[in-house]
Amino acid sequence: MIIFLIGFMGSGKSTTGKKLAGRLGYAFLDTDRQIAREFGMNINEIFDRLGESRFRESEARLLKEIILRRNVVVSTGGGLPCHGDNMDIINRNGVSIYLKLSPSDLYQRLSGGKRKRPLIRDLSDSELLRYIERKLSEREFYYLQSRFTVDGRNPNLDELVGLLRD
Ligand code: S3P
Repeated sequence: MIIFLIGFMGSGKSTTGKKLAGRLGYAFLDTDRQIAREFGMNINEIFDRLGESRFRESEARLLKEIILRRNVVVSTGGGLPCHGDNMDIINRNGVSIYLKLSPSDLYQRLSGGKRKRPLIRDLSDSELLRYIERKLSEREFYYLQSRFTVDGRNPNLDELVGLLRD
């Protein structure tokens, strides 16, 4: 089985994904880390030097490689499900779980973690909140196509494992 964790920046996909993979005895893969490793650059450098569209192409290419694997939990970058036909590919090949958080919870989590994220690093705090509200309302069209939606504030591993057994 391939499990895709879906959600906005700061929703805890990597933290939860690592725990879930440990619990299931699955491998764990973080799409941002994988792309950064391939380019030998961090995500900010990739956006700055190559541009967002090259990053989105890499996400799509990586997704096509990931679906050839088995028994892996994948933490997807916040924009990955929202480009091209990525969300359809995810749902045809794996089980998607959306870690849902409100704009104000995301704001609390992201206001101290802007630096590493090119889309928000230059925003003031008030701009950040407005950005989250606007972007999340666009992106939920995709996120809500996930097979399961769970409360991202404190995801319960037993609940997640239970969902996967059904
Ligand atoms: C992005 C989210 C980031 C990373 C890139 C773009 C987005 O991943 O892929 O900065 O478009 O929301 P995280 O969701 O892991 O922060």
